Amino acid sequence: MYRDVSSCNTYNYGDAVYWDARYVQEGGSFDWYQRYAALRPFVRKYIPASSRVLMVGCGNAVMSEDMVKDGYEDIVNIDISAVAIDMMRKKYEYIPQLKYMQMDVRDMSFFPDDSFDGVIDKGTLDSLMCGTDAPISAAQMLAEVCRLLKPGGTYMLITYGDPTVRMPHLRRPMYNWKVTLYNIPRPGFQKPENCSSSRKSYLEPIPLDEKGLIPKDWVLEDPDSHYIYVCRKMDDGEIDDTLTYRLTADVL
Ligand SMILES: C[S@@+](CC[C@H](N)C(=O)[O-])C[C@H]1O[C@@H](n2cnc3c(N)ncnc32)[C@H](O)[C@@H]1O
Repeated sequence: MYRDVSSCNTYNYGDAVYWDARYVQEGGSFDWYQRYAALRPFVRKYIPASSRVLMVGCGNAVMSEDMVKDGYEDIVNIDISAVAIDMMRKKYEYIPQLKYMQMDVRDMSFFPDDSFDGVIDKGTLDSLMCGTDAPISAAQMLAEVCRLLKPGGTYMLITYGDPTVRMPHLRRPMYNWKVTLYNIPRPGFQKPENCSSSRKSYLEPIPLDEKGLIPKDWVLEDPDSHYIYVCRKMDDGEIDDTLTYRLTADVL
């Protein structure tokens, strides 16, 4: 169940050829990082079941199927791997709520602006961050995600990347996203008895400092846990008053 794309140097996660070969070899299904059951409280809270949802870099995960079982009615799944998309389209041809399209997340011009209420990304930005020209790919992807979100819509990023490496990409003023951060342990993680974690409940957001980072005295229960960034696209003129810090440096 648990795999991480932090081993960028070993595998070329940013390359479509790599993913095609992997899906030919593996077949079956696999959910990176977390299953829907663990993510459900966050998904249901921020992306209502009536939403039109875009699952970016769906791979061969069962997350979208689980969401349909939970009442979601319209989930468009895209992936750069034609192998994964062909496989998933055949597997789910009997579920009309699920659509599968081969597409590069950096160019989703097929869809008009404001097409989706929610965009879910589990491990796909992480993959792009392993590729060549990672900051440019990330900026292209996030600009497209922002364009496709309706005002008030939510981009939910599930990643191993902590705020020092993800916030500079997410907090670019042009997106006008209000970012809320959560953190959940890896599946199967056993909390040590002497753990001095700052956390009362996973369902509580982590309070961020004025730079949008985790305060230095905050103790994570599991040092290799996963982060959930909930990025709400604010209306024009709306300002995120929870943070005074604004990123001005260009990440490119
Ligand atoms: C780490 S896997 C995650 C798969 C799935 N989201 C999950 O949670 O199990 C990353 C996925 O992103 C896809 N991917 C990588 N680069 C992409 C791109 N530029 N556009 C669309 N999908 C991409 C890969 O083919 C792969 O299926």
